[in-house]
Amino acid sequence: FRTPLLIPPVMPRAGTITVQGGKNVDSYEISMRQFAQQVLPAGLPPTLVWGYGAVASARKDGLLVHNAPSLTIEARWNRPVRVKWINELVDVDGNHLPHLLPVDPTLHWANPPGGEDGRDSRPMFEATPGAYGGPVPIVTHVHGSVGVGDESDGYAEAWYLPAAADIPAGYATEGTWYEFFADKAATRYGVEWGPGFATFQYPNTQRASTIWYHDHTLGMTRVNVYAGPAGFFLIRGGPDGDDSVLDSRSGTTAVLPGPAPKENDKFPSNKTYYEIPIAVQDRSFNDDGSLFYPDSRAFFDKIVADYIPVGEFSPIWNPEFFGNMLIANGNTWPFQVVEQRRYRFRFLNGCQSRFLILDFNGIPGVEAWQIGNEGGFLSAPVNLTADHGGRLLMGLAERADVIVDFTNVPVGNHVLRNVGPDEPFGGGIPGVDFPVADPESTGQVLEFRVVPATAPDPTTPGEFLVLPAVAPLPPESVIRSLVLVEKSGIGFDANGDAVDGPVAALLGTADGGVPVEYEWEDPVSDNPAVGSTEVWEFVNTTADAHPMHVHEVAFEVVDREGLVRDVDDPDDIVVPFQPDGDVSGPEGWETGRKDTVIAYPGQITRVRATFDTAGQYVWHCHIVEHEDNEMMRPYRIGPEQP
Ligand code: C2O
Ligand code: CU
Repeated sequence: FRTPLLIPPVMPRAGTITVQGGKNVDSYEISMRQFAQQVLPAGLPPTLVWGYGAVASARKDGLLVHNAPSLTIEARWNRPVRVKWINELVDVDGNHLPHLLPVDPTLHWANPPGGEDGRDSRPMFEATPGAYGGPVPIVTHVHGSVGVGDESDGYAEAWYLPAAADIPAGYATEGTWYEFFADKAATRYGVEWGPGFATFQYPNTQRASTIWYHDHTLGMTRVNVYAGPAGFFLIRGGPDGDDSVLDSRSGTTAVLPGPAPKENDKFPSNKTYYEIPIAVQDRSFNDDGSLFYPDSRAFFDKIVADYIPVGEFSPIWNPEFFGNMLIANGNTWPFQVVEQRRYRFRFLNGCQSRFLILDFNGIPGVEAWQIGNEGGFLSAPVNLTADHGGRLLMGLAERADVIVDFTNVPVGNHVLRNVGPDEPFGGGIPGVDFPVADPESTGQVLEFRVVPATAPDPTTPGEFLVLPAVAPLPPESVIRSLVLVEKSGIGFDANGDAVDGPVAALLGTADGGVPVEYEWEDPVSDNPAVGSTEVWEFVNTTADAHPMHVHEVAFEVVDREGLVRDVDDPDDIVVPFQPDGDVSGPEGWETGRKDTVIAYPGQITRVRATFDTAGQYVWHCHIVEHEDNEMMRPYRIGPEQP
């Protein structure tokens, strides 16, 4: 704990305000660049990473321009944000930068050289056999943005390459959906796309919430995001904003801990922040400080790795990846000085495959109240320390808005621990234990250095917070039964012996309780009507928990129900699937609206959503290794597009 926690500054606007549909639009120009950052403690080598930042035209003096995690976009409710997302992964001569990490060209991936998204096309730029050395495709998704048009959602096949000098003419520089969406964006917003950029617009008419942005390129999200590009996007104000929270003692507006960083604050800042977003991620490093990510399937199960797939395994892709260190806001094991008073932390689980369980009860005297999740405030505060053993469970991409009260924490240093597993998470099955993270490494998130308060704490204690009511969604007209499947196959180890293992994770429909599996390239099978409300049932037939994310909507968690198991072999689920009648409602921290939900093994997890905006979107598992290998499906709201 040698590095102060980096508090991400606010992304400067480009300064141009357009008016559209009677609304002011905040404009940004944000590029993705490669740069070195001190991720490990000082004295160890810096790490090459990628990050989003404001381009030179929007730079303000004293503000760090590119940073990992990236700068926070501060959006206001009902005020659209327009972003020109620029792929600047080029070197000083304007030539393309190769990927920092191994790309697996045998997956269904962006595959720029092929000119079409598809499998098995040998890369044109090949640094060493099997290593993709070509330009890096990117496309940005604002995770949790509701009501966004599909042209602005960051569709996985709407990726684009940097406008690099060394890309030969005739080389496919965009994914198959790019042009269609470019035309749509031109018609809708009068904006231009490319080469090397796309301009998206977000309405921000949803409840005030903690959303975030990251890359979403087909078949390479796991390696693109691992290199760094991700940041917070906060929507403030409106009918469900901070001002709608009441203090039960007075019935008037409660005081929540603040301030958070503001657009013109210096960096590093001389201000004290009491509201801080904290992104927790897992990473591994090579001795030279560079990021380590497995370059062969051998990492997972000692399979012969070569460019040509051996057996049914993809040679590079690993079914999951668990980094052996945690980083918080881009640094390994940072510390944060906190006063004996209340703070508001907005946590994000930005790991690859790792479920986090933060253990607040490891901090003596602390009180932690969760007040929000992905879709804004919960229906009521949840006392994590008194009622849940101090534990905050976060699946991949889930967020938690938490009031942490250090008032009674002794002055001194206290570590926030992670007691989630260093392996796939099956938690939630009653009676099933799982190993906890290594207490020496992934078991530690950051250190709080508690000092006496500098002034009386004006904020409302968690127990007196009254959160704004959440309007229920209308009843559903359709129940859509969907299925989660893991597919196994055979590979060969170094001795040539056959090995069983996961090949891909798939999604499909449960047709009369019988799974029908689909791959990404299969036609759309889920097609809600515009304006309709549906319940989606995630039927998890696998042994792992999967965090399921649906783009475009914020849903209600309806309930969970077990599946009937084989009496002789309780590991087996009876097909056709039958719900077992053991139904449980959402957890306290799953009330309000969410965009990602944990689907536990052997259970049906039901969510309800209204599908308002026509277009082509995706739903997927947010274990990014799964998402990249078929655990993602397109879905369409409304009629087929030309
Ligand atoms: Cu956070 Cu579809 O992604
Ligand atoms: Cu998954």
